[in-house]
Amino acid sequence: MIITNIKKLITHKTVNISSKICTYKDICIGINRGKIVKLNTDFKLNRIKNEEVIDAKGKAVIPGLVECHTHTVFGGDRIDDFERRSRGLTYMDILKAGGGINHTVKCTRESRDSELIKTGLERVRKFTANGITTLEIKSGYGLSVKDELRLLKIIGRIKDESDIDIIPTFLGAHTFPPEYRENRDKYVDIITDTMLPLVRKNNLSEFCDIFCEEGAFNLAQTERILKAAKKLGFRLKIHADQLTNSGASLLAAKYRCISADHLDKTDRKSILALRKAGTTAVLLPYATLFTGHREYALAREMLDNGLRVAISTDFNPGSSYTFNLFFCATLGITQMRMTVEEALMAITINAAYALGLERKKGTIETGKDADLIILNTDDYREIFYNPDPALINTVISKGKVVFRNR
Ligand code: NIG
Ligand code: FE
Repeated sequence: MIITNIKKLITHKTVNISSKICTYKDICIGINRGKIVKLNTDFKLNRIKNEEVIDAKGKAVIPGLVECHTHTVFGGDRIDDFERRSRGLTYMDILKAGGGINHTVKCTRESRDSELIKTGLERVRKFTANGITTLEIKSGYGLSVKDELRLLKIIGRIKDESDIDIIPTFLGAHTFPPEYRENRDKYVDIITDTMLPLVRKNNLSEFCDIFCEEGAFNLAQTERILKAAKKLGFRLKIHADQLTNSGASLLAAKYRCISADHLDKTDRKSILALRKAGTTAVLLPYATLFTGHREYALAREMLDNGLRVAISTDFNPGSSYTFNLFFCATLGITQMRMTVEEALMAITINAAYALGLERKKGTIETGKDADLIILNTDDYREIFYNPDPALINTVISKGKVVFRNR
């Protein structure tokens, strides 16, 4: 495949400490077997017969987006929670009263596999139409051995049926299920002694994530799970400092987690610790907005201290219902003082780092997967200024057109 007539190709480099973008003008991209093989000004001479040619019509091309933190597979909805919050209850009030995540757990357990696969695939298509070519999906609404494994298998089925890349993450430590509300340490035992080994044995996920928060897993319980997961060879992630500054991100640094996510309440000391540990900060500003909180993560301070910052939707039924990753990046710019270049980096190469995929994904460089977006504008900044999926023309994943705007 060749993509011709690209007015501007915008990309970061994989190894690039600064956020400066590279712009190539009037260029073509050569793709072979799903990989980028050439960036050139003229392909006419060595064009292979019958090769598919896509005309970018003088518009801009950017890397396909990497969405590194979602809870895409669940049953039911949380419209009631949303309404309760409108009457003054907080996300935490609802969680502590056994609602919130546990309401979704109940609906998910009651849903058939076929229903979860169907709604999951519909959501994957919505992500694709929003420019996403790599999508992480967490379990976490099963919260029993049977249902957590079932969810990871369902995510595997969705992966097999999707054109974009899906990365499953085990989140058995999302909250305590009702059966173990009075005996929390027993549930932690089940995670460490049964769930984690089974997830590993069945090759269902490389990642283990934990919601470390008041009302969810405390620091000691989180550390027990981290230790067990590390021993089994999982790569580690923590939902850290979302609602309170509990020291979760210091723990993420101690265990050299691949990412620490949320970080709305993270302080300077923890920022420096994360930076030293090489952890990627995954910020989820739409969750902040959607739950009515006003304090966003200190992205400017993180960036100024050399911490790698990614942005994600956190798509889930309770705290963040959006597929629009560009809009989340716009929040990064308007609410967290990031530059447009930093925001692009946060939803491409830095998000790839949060999944350990930086060598394959997140930039347009030869040898990488051909994951690209052809925009309907020649000025890539426009899609942050006006984060409307109508500005996406074509989405290509591993050299295959997976979405075309009509
Ligand atoms: O990332 N914080 C915990 N987990 C999700 C919310 C899940 C839910 O409310 O269903 C989050 O915000
Ligand atoms: Fe989350």
